[in-house]
Amino acid sequence: MKIFTTREALQKHLQQARAAHKTIGLVPTMGALHQGHVSLIKQAQACNDEIICSIFVNPTQFNDPKDLEKYPRTIEADIQMLEQANCDILFSPDEKEMYDGNEQWHLDIGGLENLLEGKFRPGHYQGVTQIVYKLFSLVKPDTAFFGQKDYQQFLVISKMVELLSLPVKLVMCPIKREPDGLAMSSRNIHLTPDDRQHALTLSKTLDWIEGNFDAGNITGLKRNAELMIGNEPGIELEYFEIADGDTLLPAVEDSKKVVALVAARAGKTRLIDNVILSLKP
Ligand code: PAF
Repeated sequence: MKIFTTREALQKHLQQARAAHKTIGLVPTMGALHQGHVSLIKQAQACNDEIICSIFVNPTQFNDPKDLEKYPRTIEADIQMLEQANCDILFSPDEKEMYDGNEQWHLDIGGLENLLEGKFRPGHYQGVTQIVYKLFSLVKPDTAFFGQKDYQQFLVISKMVELLSLPVKLVMCPIKREPDGLAMSSRNIHLTPDDRQHALTLSKTLDWIEGNFDAGNITGLKRNAELMIGNEPGIELEYFEIADGDTLLPAVEDSKKVVALVAARAGKTRLIDNVILSLKP
């Protein structure tokens, strides 16, 4: 695997790849890689000739400096994992390489900005679109791969691609789970054994919702889910929503796509999870 830390070196390499008519797949990450990320790499390999994984803990998407400071950084293990997955290129710039210190960014992404994650993490999606735009401009990927776990992020990035007419295809890859159902996340590293046990209530509640989904009883289902999670010790629920899969506004009976989304703190660790409930033709 080739490792680049500067934009210039990466661009030089990409020019050669493009001259050889290779298609380029980009998997943007913040590192602390797990099997969920590996599944993105595998999906990318199935669709493209040359795969780039970026690792950059992007400061502008953290509204809480403590969260940024304690975000896991495991670059040696990440490199090993990417090598085992046969990833072609790792791009791991430092902060100076990505930001010149004097930048303005604002993209009007409409209602998605202040709902759910946006409400609990003000400014988060401005930071996400800012860095993803930079990566897209640099790499000019044919296809970019993101996990379903950050469902709202995928909608926000899709909106950016549409607003700015960016020539990239986006692919959303399914959530990877531990055998007991916990959604894989870089943040799981911070869970104590007790937190981890309590955190299972999130996937269990989403399973229950999936098993009992009835578009005519969304309010009742949501109330039950809130009670299930609210009654779990050690868990502080931020939101549980059964939402329209396109707008993330509360779902209505004839929403074409419905998704249940949850965010909660297990001890000190903030976790998110979701399940797509129905896809109507
Ligand atoms: O999903 C993530 O890891 C990040 O939000 C992303 C897309 C790499 C942007 O920093």
